[in-house]
Amino acid sequence: MYFELVLALLTGLAMSLAYQGPTLPDKGFTVARSAGTKVTVTKDNTLNGSYHSNFTRLQADRVEPLPLEIVNNFDAGPVNAYIQGLDSKGAVVFVAANGSLIYPSSHGSRLPVKIDHDLAIPLPRKGKSLSLKIPIPLSSGRVYFCQGNLSFFMLDTGYGEGLVQPSVTNMDDPSASLHWGFVELTYTAAGTVYANISYVDFVGLILSMALSTKDKPSRSQVTRGLRADAVQALCEGLWKQGKVDGQPWLGLCVVDENRRLIRILSPNYYRRLYDAAFEGYWNGYIDKVWRHYSYKPLTIDTQTPAGPVTCRVINNILRCLNDTRGYSRPLATDIWGCDSGPFGRVNGDNDVHIAVIPRLCAAFVRSTLLLPGGDVQPSLNSSHHYTVSPTHHYSRLVHELQVDGRGYAFSYDDVNPDGTEDASGLVSSGNPDTLTVYVGSPPTD
Ligand SMILES: *[C@@H]1O[C@H](CO)[C@@H](O)[C@H](O)[C@H]1NC(C)=O
Ligand SMILES: *[C@@H]1O[C@H](CO)[C@@H](O)[C@H](O)[C@H]1NC(C)=O
Ligand SMILES: *[C@@H]1O[C@H](CO)[C@@H](O)[C@H](O)[C@H]1NC(C)=O
Ligand SMILES: *[C@@H]1O[C@H](CO)[C@@H](O)[C@H](O)[C@H]1NC(C)=O
Ligand SMILES: *[C@@H]1O[C@H](CO)[C@@H](O)[C@H](O)[C@H]1NC(C)=O
Ligand SMILES: *[C@@H]1O[C@H](CO)[C@@H](O)[C@H](O)[C@H]1NC(C)=O
Ligand SMILES: *[C@@H]1O[C@H](CO)[C@@H](O)[C@H](O)[C@H]1NC(C)=O
Repeated sequence: MYFELVLALLTGLAMSLAYQGPTLPDKGFTVARSAGTKVTVTKDNTLNGSYHSNFTRLQADRVEPLPLEIVNNFDAGPVNAYIQGLDSKGAVVFVAANGSLIYPSSHGSRLPVKIDHDLAIPLPRKGKSLSLKIPIPLSSGRVYFCQGNLSFFMLDTGYGEGLVQPSVTNMDDPSASLHWGFVELTYTAAGTVYANISYVDFVGLILSMALSTKDKPSRSQVTRGLRADAVQALCEGLWKQGKVDGQPWLGLCVVDENRRLIRILSPNYYRRLYDAAFEGYWNGYIDKVWRHYSYKPLTIDTQTPAGPVTCRVINNILRCLNDTRGYSRPLATDIWGCDSGPFGRVNGDNDVHIAVIPRLCAAFVRSTLLLPGGDVQPSLNSSHHYTVSPTHHYSRLVHELQVDGRGYAFSYDDVNPDGTEDASGLVSSGNPDTLTVYVGSPPTD
């Protein structure tokens, strides 16, 4: 139903009565190849595992198994789950539907080889749920969900057995044209669970989760994440923005060869495909900010014992008191990732510098630096974010479409005036009962 609707939009056919939005164009999207065969190995899609033997399998730590419940709320057909991670010896492991462990091997291949075990855990039909158990501690864990079969590969990295995961920045990846997403999961040997939903890299299959605990009284944590129709709504919002400012926002929308909408990339991931796409996008704004703060002081509250520090642009470099280094003018690519150029860390950066990076980058991402009150960062709450252009329109739209404000849209979404708001998509407990993941629509209760 969902996909038929999108198809109708993209091809300009008759629209569903329920749908009142605009007709999207048929050009400007990023197209993912069906059944691609080019597997790329990058640090973003490789999980470095250790070598393993039968011995390591037998040594897998005993822990109280973590009950995992998966609720299928997905409208558009059958979904498979895949559970992967590193065991306590650092070896790549998958959990099968019956709770047994699968240790895939590259058999010494330095090129990725497809895992031939059946890793898929088919979900029951819509409205039903599946209960299983994660029997061992798991780090760097992910629970993937896919409409169709995801392809995973192994390779000998020279240091161990690496898992090559599906990539969203490779349009020839075998899984590129499939609709998938994941939640991140860590289950420690001490029995603590951390599960996380993030939109920092992309928005794919819509997931949400709840964690119940054995605490008395029992307290449930919920991350509802995005609306069920968020991929479509995000793409429409990006398309509208592109019509306003002429920027390639529509390129963040990834469609398959039949022009069905698959996922939305963050600008930070899109720049890996098209380096120059937003080149110059922020230049006018950065010029104004740099001019403004060469006359007036900018105060950054480090929200640490170092307190607020005063900053000023001198000779084209923003310098803050008690900070080991200054900040050069960022490029668009630095603002999307918050981890390069002036926002990159080096050894020797002091506490002030380490505190200024996220606060300064968040101020750019949210375009609050020239607003009244913007000369103190962070001081303006979320009602002042993304109110002027240029801004991070992907982050703006993700926040507009969130049901409960949970789930980071950029890496420093946790920067806020009083330091207490929790916008992360994290649930965690040292005393977990059941982790429930909802596929498709978020829970309504
Ligand atoms: C995996 O290990 C290689 C070699 O040590 C390293 O270059 C790479 O960055 C690592 N990848 C990740 C995701 O940590
Ligand atoms: C691991 O165990 C399996 C089945 O018990 C056996 O076939 C295989 O040869 C063993 N591998 C190693 C490396 O010992
Ligand atoms: C559990 O599932 C795995 C993978 O599908 C299979 O190899 C194994 O034989 C099953 N074990 C049992 C006890 O059914
Ligand atoms: C997925 O894999 C299963 C088992 O290997 C197979 O039966 C099924 O046809 C595949 N589904 C698709 C959509 O390729
Ligand atoms: C949640 O996931 C994001 C994206 O992978 C990661 O950067 C972040 O550290 C995670 N947060 C927590 C609290 O685990
Ligand atoms: C910060 O700088 C001021 C002025 O240079 C100095 O008096 C103060 O001791 C410094 N504070 C810290 C924590 O280094
Ligand atoms: C945000 O701040 C404004 C004042 O700048 C205030 O009126 C508003 O209630 C605040 N909103 C939230 C959600 O705290």
